[in-house]
Amino acid sequence: MLNPVAHHRTVTLGATDITIPPLGIGTWAWGDRWIWGYGSGDYSDADLRAAYEASINAGIALFDTAEVYGLGRSETLLGAFAAESAVRPVIATKFMPYPWRLTRSAFLRALRGSLERLQLEQVDLYQIHWPFPPVALEVWMDALAEAMDAGLVRAVGVSNYAMQQMGRAHDALSRRGVVLASNQVHYSLLHRKPDTNGVRQLCQDLNVTLIAYSPLEMGILTGKYTPDNPPPRTRRWQYRSGLLAQVQPLIQRMREIGEAHGGKTPAQVALNWLICQGVVPIPGVKNVRHALSNAAAVGWRLSNDEVAELDELGRHLS
Ligand SMILES: NC(=O)c1ccc[n+]([C@@H]2O[C@H](COP(=O)([O-])OP(=O)(O)OC[C@H]3O[C@@H](n4cnc5c(N)ncnc54)[C@H](OP(=O)(O)O)[C@@H]3O)[C@@H](O)[C@H]2O)c1
Repeated sequence: MLNPVAHHRTVTLGATDITIPPLGIGTWAWGDRWIWGYGSGDYSDADLRAAYEASINAGIALFDTAEVYGLGRSETLLGAFAAESAVRPVIATKFMPYPWRLTRSAFLRALRGSLERLQLEQVDLYQIHWPFPPVALEVWMDALAEAMDAGLVRAVGVSNYAMQQMGRAHDALSRRGVVLASNQVHYSLLHRKPDTNGVRQLCQDLNVTLIAYSPLEMGILTGKYTPDNPPPRTRRWQYRSGLLAQVQPLIQRMREIGEAHGGKTPAQVALNWLICQGVVPIPGVKNVRHALSNAAAVGWRLSNDEVAELDELGRHLS
C-alpha cells in the first residue's frame, strides 16, 4: 500500500492536534563549535537566518532545538529568527536531565530558561533529551504533565528512549491524562536500530510520532564525503573505519534512483526514504542551500520497490 504521508504537505504530531510538515529542521549546529564548527567561518548567523527563512518559505515550519545546543545559542538564534518571522513555526526543544538536576523545580527552571531564549510563553513540543539516571523517568513525566497543566508546553515527548522506557513514559503520562506525542531517536538508512529494537513498532502501536535524528548520518548520506574527502573535525572519527568506502555503492544507487525522480539528490532520496517509513526526519542545516535541498525531499515519493531496495542495501551497512 502507498504511504500517503510522503505525498502530503502536513502530518499530525502523534495523537495531538498539532499539524507539522512531514520533515523538520534540526538546529544542533546553530551555535555548536566542537562538532559542527560554528564560529570557524564555515557558516555565519546570517547563513542560519537565511536557512530559517528559506525553510519557512518552502513550507517547512518545524524546528528542533535543545537547551544544550551551543549552550543555549541554538535556542537564542531560533527564538530571534522566529520572533521576526511572519509564520509562527512549530518549535520543539529539550530538557537535559543532568545528574545534578533532581527536582521538578530544577525542571521548571530549565523550561523557563528555554522559553526565555526562544522568546516564547509556550513551546510546542518539550522533550526529555535522554533517559539518564538518577531520577526515575516517571518523575520527569509528572513534571511534563505539570508543565502542560501550567500552559507552558503544548505537547510532550521523549528522546533516545528504548522501547521499555517509552512504554513507561507513555503509561506515566496516560495516568495524568497526557499524550506522549513523540520519541526522537537516531534513525537513517545507515542506522536501523529502531527497526530491530521495537521502538518503531511501539511508536506505530501507540500513535507516537517517531522523529528521526541524524537522518543524513551527519552528512554521509549526502554523498559529498568519501574516503579521500572525509567530514571535518570530530565527525572524522565518529564512524567505523571503512564506512565511507563501504557506503559508496549505496550512494551511487541513490543517485540513480534520484535521477529517475527528476534529478533528486542522494540527500533527498535518504530523507524521502524515511518519510516513506512514516517517520519525521529533522535534517540539520547550516545554510540556505541545505535548507532548499532538504525541503525538496517532500511532496513526492519513492516507489515501493525503491523503498524496499534501499531498505535492503542500507540494512547490510548498518
Ligand atoms: N535527540 C538527540 O539526542 C539528537 C542527537 C543528534 C541530533 N539531533 C537532532 O537532529 C538534527 C539532525 O541531526 P544531525 O545534525 O546530527 O545530522 P544530519 O541531519 O544527519 O546531518 C546534518 C549535516 O549534514 C550536512 N547537510 C545537511 N543537509 C545537507 C544537504 N542538503 N546537502 C549537503 N550537506 C547537507 C550539514 O553538515 P556539513 O555541511 O558540515 O556536512 C548538516 O549540518 C540535529 O540538528 C538535532 O536537532 C538530536
